[in-house]
Amino acid sequence: MAPVRHTHRPARPRMVEATFLPGLGRFLADELRERLPGVRPRPVPDRDDALRFPYAGPLSRLRSLRTAVAVFTVLGFGVARPASLLHGDHLRRIAAAVRDGADGADPARSFRIEAAGRDSMAFRHLAVELARVTGLAFDPHGGDLVLRFRRSPAAATGWDVLVRASTRPLSARRWRVADYPGAANATIAAAMARALPLRSGDRVLNLMCGSGTLLVERLLAGPARAAVGVDADESALAACRANLDAAGVRADLVHADAAAPDLLPRRRFEVILADPPWGTRHGDHAANEALYGAMLRTARRLAAPGARFAVLTHEVRLMERLLPRHERHWHAEEVHRAFQKGHHPRIYVLGAVPPSDDHAGERR
Ligand SMILES: C[S@@+](CC[C@H](N)C(=O)[O-])C[C@H]1O[C@@H](n2cnc3c(N)ncnc32)[C@H](O)[C@@H]1O
Repeated sequence: MAPVRHTHRPARPRMVEATFLPGLGRFLADELRERLPGVRPRPVPDRDDALRFPYAGPLSRLRSLRTAVAVFTVLGFGVARPASLLHGDHLRRIAAAVRDGADGADPARSFRIEAAGRDSMAFRHLAVELARVTGLAFDPHGGDLVLRFRRSPAAATGWDVLVRASTRPLSARRWRVADYPGAANATIAAAMARALPLRSGDRVLNLMCGSGTLLVERLLAGPARAAVGVDADESALAACRANLDAAGVRADLVHADAAAPDLLPRRRFEVILADPPWGTRHGDHAANEALYGAMLRTARRLAAPGARFAVLTHEVRLMERLLPRHERHWHAEEVHRAFQKGHHPRIYVLGAVPPSDDHAGERR
């Protein structure tokens, strides 16, 4: 008898949209291309915070993206107004996308609607019908699954329904078991990790590590030979320890002043990260003047040849003033600007100037 041939038919690709913090799209595009070969992300017309691409694989793979804020399945409907989505076929398509995106580890119990005019009668009817077809409760403010409705940016007419593929945004990390005031956004930290070399032989230092966002994201991006976090606040280090443990990564934590001239004697690091106080929640602008200079000197002293140093800060004027004074030690290779809820911090990626050019110390 002839053997039965199983022809594998790939699933039909769905359109997916991945959102990011404006300014960091390059990092998400790189991560998508690297982790999902064959995917070609494109910008979404008129948006500075989203990439879209057809995708046939399981949505669970997209939930592990580190530079994405959220991932949505995009359903396009050739209808003139949202009320027309009450049609049974349309509702079934939306319900199928909700099922497709269901996260077994963190199942949705309720949904909410994000749309211009979401309090209108049309959306109230839609909410009732969507609750019926999806089996989820409608909770207008606290719903864990987001359904976003908008006019289609890709077509002259029509509406899109975007179904978020996770109950929580991807930027809300499971490893963050200990909150800390002023903790960095994890997608920014993941972008910083990608802006630096990722070599398993590297030794990683996080100055002023707080609750460890930069450290955890660097260590989750890839292994390192050694990792050290330094902070002057015991409660920060306790939060950092809890987050490292929850993430399943290891680092030595040191309770010390990052400006101390005897910090970590004889240690050297290829990758240095810092999220110094921005002068808002931590520190103040006057004290930062001295602290940032000390941070650049400490990092220089602890830098291995060819080291890279990434600094996340909102103290842009201060950095711009200090960097020329430290140009014999550090040169700015890249500067990235992120937009995050009214803040627009920058990531400075500095390269250690080779020692032969580095004999004169910084200008003061
Ligand atoms: C913006 S917070 C860092 C937040 C961190 N990236 C996180 O995600 O939790 C700045 C940190 O710098 C620490 N710090 C301020 N001055 C310091 C100093 N001179 N030496 C060491 N740590 C310092 C503070 O204790 C605080 O934890």
